[in-house]
Amino acid sequence: MDKEFKRTLITTALPYTNGPVHIGHLAGVYIPADIYARYLRLRQRPVLLIGGSDEHGVPITLKARAEGVTPQDIVDRYHKLIKESFEELGISFDIYSRTTSDIHHETASEFFRRLYDNGKFIEKESMQLYDEEAGQFLADRYVVGECPHCHNPHAYGDQCEACGNALNATDLIDPHSAITGSVPTLKSTKHWYLPLDRYEGALRQWILEGHKEWKTNVYGQCSSWLDLGLQPRAVSRDLSWGVPVPVEGADGKVLYVWFDAPIGYISNTKELLPDTWETWWKNPETRIINFIGKDNIVFHCIVFPAMLMAYGDNYQLPDNVPANEFLNLEGDKISTSRNWAVWLHEYLRDFPGKQDVLRYVLTANAPETKDNDFTWRDFQTRNNSELVAILGNYVNRVIVLTHKYFEGKVPEAGDFIDIDLAAIKEMDELRESLSTRLETFHFRDALKDAMGFARLGNKYLQETEPWKLAKTDMARVATVINLNLQICASIAVAMEPFMPFMSAKLSSMLGMGKLTWDMIGRTDLISSGSEIGQSELLFEKIEDETIQAQVDRLVNTRRENLIKNFKPAPQLADTSIEAFGQLDLRVGTVLECAPVKKSNKLLRFVIDDGMGTRTIVSGIAQYYQAEDLVGKQVVFVANLPEVKLRGVVSQGMILSAMNADGSLTVISPSAPSTPGAQVK
Ligand code: MF3
Ligand code: ZN
Repeated sequence: MDKEFKRTLITTALPYTNGPVHIGHLAGVYIPADIYARYLRLRQRPVLLIGGSDEHGVPITLKARAEGVTPQDIVDRYHKLIKESFEELGISFDIYSRTTSDIHHETASEFFRRLYDNGKFIEKESMQLYDEEAGQFLADRYVVGECPHCHNPHAYGDQCEACGNALNATDLIDPHSAITGSVPTLKSTKHWYLPLDRYEGALRQWILEGHKEWKTNVYGQCSSWLDLGLQPRAVSRDLSWGVPVPVEGADGKVLYVWFDAPIGYISNTKELLPDTWETWWKNPETRIINFIGKDNIVFHCIVFPAMLMAYGDNYQLPDNVPANEFLNLEGDKISTSRNWAVWLHEYLRDFPGKQDVLRYVLTANAPETKDNDFTWRDFQTRNNSELVAILGNYVNRVIVLTHKYFEGKVPEAGDFIDIDLAAIKEMDELRESLSTRLETFHFRDALKDAMGFARLGNKYLQETEPWKLAKTDMARVATVINLNLQICASIAVAMEPFMPFMSAKLSSMLGMGKLTWDMIGRTDLISSGSEIGQSELLFEKIEDETIQAQVDRLVNTRRENLIKNFKPAPQLADTSIEAFGQLDLRVGTVLECAPVKKSNKLLRFVIDDGMGTRTIVSGIAQYYQAEDLVGKQVVFVANLPEVKLRGVVSQGMILSAMNADGSLTVISPSAPSTPGAQVK
C-alpha cells in the first residue's frame, strides 16, 4: 500500500507538561506509535518517530501559581519525568524535545510571521473577560463557569470536560476567575484569527474525498465539523507564558498554545536533522502519520492542516491520523485532578523490569474503536494466563528440551513431514495477517496474530511430543526441536514491536543478531550446531498481593475524593429531628422515563406515587439510559412546590447518591415496597 512512499514521519501528540503521563496517554498514543515505528524499522523502511513536550498553555501557569513557582520550574520538572519514563518504557523516539526550546520559538515565530505577512490572518478587536483584581485578561482555563450545553457547573473557558464541547470563555454562564474567584468584566482587546472558513473547500476535498480510508471515528468527527461550517479561530492570547506574537504592538500577547504546539513536530524534526528536515516535511514521497487521542482530532485534521495550507511552501498534510478513543480505569474516567490514573513513573517504580507487561496489556485493551477499561485484575490475568502460561512457558520448554537432549546445541532438522509443513504454513499466514494489520493500524488484532506464534508453538509441541519420541527416534526429535527453535525465533521478531525487552532477551538467548521482518516464518533462522543460552525467565507470575496493593491505592483515592467532596452540614439541635419530619419522603415506581428535549442532563419521570401519577424531572441523564429505569423504584420528596424545568412541570425531587467522581446513583428501597410508602 505504501510502495510509493520513500519514508514515514511519525508524530505523537506532545503531552502537556503540567503532570506526568498515565496509561490513557500510553494506550491512546505512545504505544501504538512505537509499535508502528518499530515495525517499519524491522522492515528497513526509513522512519522517524518524533515526540516532545507541549510546554505552553494556561494549565501550566495555573499549576505554577498554585505551587508558588515559575511555569519554567513546572515544565522542567515534568519534561524530565516524562522523557525519562518514556525512555524506560522503550518508546523509541528519534527525538524527544520541548516547545520551550530556542529552535521551537524561532520556528513558531517565523511560521506566524509568514502567515501575517502574507495576509493570512484577520485582525479583530473583541470583548474578552478581564479580571480587574488580578489586572489581566482571562484566557481559556483562567475562567470557570457553567457549560451552556450540558450545564456542568465546572466547565472551563475553552472546553467542558463533562460534555466535551469546545467553548469560548464568553459562552460560560456565571463565569468567574480561576485566579481570584471574582466575576470578570469585559474589556476590548486585539487578536489574530485564522479564517478556517477559507480552507473549508480544500479540507473537504482532502479528507472527505481523499481519505475515506481513515478510521471511522476520525472521519466522522471531521465530517461533522465540516458540516457545521468552519469559523475563524483566534491564534493569539493575552498571556505572558508562550511564544510572543512577533508583530509590533503585540506586547503581552503570545501565540495560542494550539497554534505553536503542532509546529513543535516541525521544530523537533529540525533539531534532529538540521540539514535534511525539509525532506521529511516538504517532499510528497514522505508519508506523515499523526498518533493522537480523540480530543485532538479537530486540531490535527482541521486546524493544523489549514495552517500548513496557509503557509504553502510544499508542506505535506498527514496521510493518516489514527486517533484512538479513551481508556478508563476501573470503570471511571481517568482524571489528573482526581488522581484517578495509573501513572507511568509509578508503574515503572512498582513493577521494575515489567515494561513489556504494561505494553502488552495496553495494546490488547487499546481503545481503538471505542472507549475501553483498564482493570488491575485483567492486567494480572493477561500476565499470568497469557504471557506466563502461553508465551513464557512455551519458550522455556523448548530451550530446556534443547539442553536436555542436545546439550544446548541446535540439532539438525531432517525431512519435514505433514505436521511440520502445516506449522510452517500457519507461520506464513500469521506473518501476512500480522503485517496487514500493522500497516492498517489494527494493533490489537496484530498482537493476537503475534501471540498466534506462541499458541501455534504450544500446539505443535504438544502434538509432536518429542519427550515420547526420544525413546525411539532421536532423528525425529532433532527435527521437531529444530523447528520449535525456529518458531521461537519467529516469536522474537514478530513480538519486537510490541514487547521489545522480551524480544531482545529471547533473540540473544537464541543468538540471533540483528532482527528483520522477513525472518518471520523462516526455518533456517538458527543454524544447526550453534549453541543457545540457558533458559531465562521471560515473564513471571504476578501475585494477588501485588495486585491488591494497586487496587487498595485506588480505593483510597476514591475515599479521599469522597471526603474532599463531602461537605458536612452543620450539627443540628435536638429538636431538629422535627425538621426531618417536614420532608415527606416516599417510594414511587417509575412508569415512564424519557430524556427532556434539548437537555443532556434531564430525565422526565412519570411515577406511580400510590395515589396516582406524578411527573418529576431529575438531572441524571448522563448516568442512565432512560429505558433502564422504567419499572425501578425510587425515593422522592413528595411535598415540594412545583417547579418548571426546561418547560416541564416537576412535582418533586428524586434522591440520588453522589459518588466520588461526581456521578449520581438513584436511591431505591432494598426490596420491592408499596408505591406511596413513606420513608422514615
Ligand atoms: N498537549 C496536547 C494534549 O495533551 C497535545 C498537543 S499535540 C500537538 O492534548 F500537536 F499540538 F503537538
Ligand atoms: Zn458541557
